[in-house]
Amino acid sequence: VIRDAVAADIGEVLTLMHSVAGFWDETWRQDVLERAFDCSGTIALVHQDRDAINGFACAYDLGFRAYLSELVVTLAAQHQGIGASLLSEVERRVADRGCSLIIADVWRNAEAFYRAHGWTPPPVVLLRKRLVGTDG
Ligand SMILES: CC(C)(COP(=O)(O)OP(=O)(O)OC[C@H]1O[C@@H](n2cnc3c(N)ncnc32)[C@H](O)[C@@H]1OP(=O)(O)O)[C@@H](O)C(=O)NCCC(=O)NCCS
Repeated sequence: VIRDAVAADIGEVLTLMHSVAGFWDETWRQDVLERAFDCSGTIALVHQDRDAINGFACAYDLGFRAYLSELVVTLAAQHQGIGASLLSEVERRVADRGCSLIIADVWRNAEAFYRAHGWTPPPVVLLRKRLVGTDG
């Protein structure tokens, strides 16, 4: 079952994110999930089977467009359609909010998954800049 993520899920979602090799970014703040859940326009969803959370998706309605920031399914639960269900639910909610475009920077090995769900590369370049706060 897919449901909205709540603050009480944070510990389990953190464990899930750490369990998928290469997923956790060491530059993320310790309270990254609290901050992500608190943002205005957040759509944070978990997939739960019995007592265990085995999938997580997080997207944002940014007004001009929506951004899918995270989608992850535990290794043991992959290839059962959970990723597809989470992605469709995110897309449905974003569209229902009136957003006609959703973007994401995705792992290269997940590109086929997104393309299979109708995602295509936009005619733009994705740039990034690493930032350091003034306190170091
Ligand atoms: C990508 C991911 C979310 C897909 O979740 P999932 O629950 O396994 O996906 P589904 O079961 O709905 O769909 C699986 C289908 O999508 C495609 N697919 C899924 N992951 C794929 C991958 N890494 N590469 C290529 N195709 C993939 C395949 O067609 C696959 O079909 P199959 O199950 O018959 O092999 C999951 O593999 C995952 O968490 N990966 C690690 C983290 C990640 O890559 N996140 C997305 C990057 S932003």
